[in-house]
Amino acid sequence: MAAIPDIRVAGSVQNWAHQAAAFIASVSERAILANGRFIMALSGGSTPKTLYQTLASPEWKTRFDWKKIHFLFGDERCVPPDHQDSNFNMAQASLFHPLAIPPNHIFRMKGEGEDPSPVAREYEQTIRQLTETQPPTMPRIDLVLLGLGDDGHTASLFPGTSALQETTKIVTVGQAPTGIRSRLTLTLGVLNQAAMVLFLVTGKGKADMIRRILEPTSEADRSLPAAQITPESGQLVWMLDQAAAAGLTRQRPQ
Ligand code: 6PG
Repeated sequence: MAAIPDIRVAGSVQNWAHQAAAFIASVSERAILANGRFIMALSGGSTPKTLYQTLASPEWKTRFDWKKIHFLFGDERCVPPDHQDSNFNMAQASLFHPLAIPPNHIFRMKGEGEDPSPVAREYEQTIRQLTETQPPTMPRIDLVLLGLGDDGHTASLFPGTSALQETTKIVTVGQAPTGIRSRLTLTLGVLNQAAMVLFLVTGKGKADMIRRILEPTSEADRSLPAAQITPESGQLVWMLDQAAAAGLTRQRPQ
């Protein structure tokens, strides 16, 4: 039974970042109590940077047991790790470096090479080793952070691309219509096995897409990539600011 989205709306981007930090702290605490460690997949783009900076802030950094937290990536642009568009580069600057996260707790998608296909296979093995799961079992990541593109993409699963059809592999090559075209991305197969998926979306530019995904009125809406994130047994939380939630007819009190 797919999870019913738990939609949470913060008053401002500052409140949003603190609410997201508190939520992640509670999820990581539960995972560490249960399993002795916490594995989270980071999202890229610009939205999560505020959250990562908040997690690394004096107010929040002491609320996490960082030595028991391991970082995967939900997707990556096929650029060098020091490239301005690299999701790793953004996380390194806003989260890993400020917190002195040990390199052996960071699992980067090494997309800078000529051919991303072997890198996808290598990253799949990395995730399987980290989660100690062998085929055909799909790894169950404790928390996956996801963003939302204004075309309804999430991770690097773009509308109309073959990556969206991949449910057997854990990692595949994605194709973006603009910007850095060649990507690496987790697939729906593994995303929908996550214990918890947290969408982080802010800004009025996403309001129409949020409405289409959370209050769909057509098959086109329901087939958008982000609409296909329906964790089979995990939880699905959307953490929005008021601007991103402005198009929703049923506002939820916070
Ligand atoms: C990426 C992300 C992607 C992102 C959305 C939203 O690599 O770009 O993983 O899925 O979350 O494109 O990006 P913004 O937060 O920059 O709007």
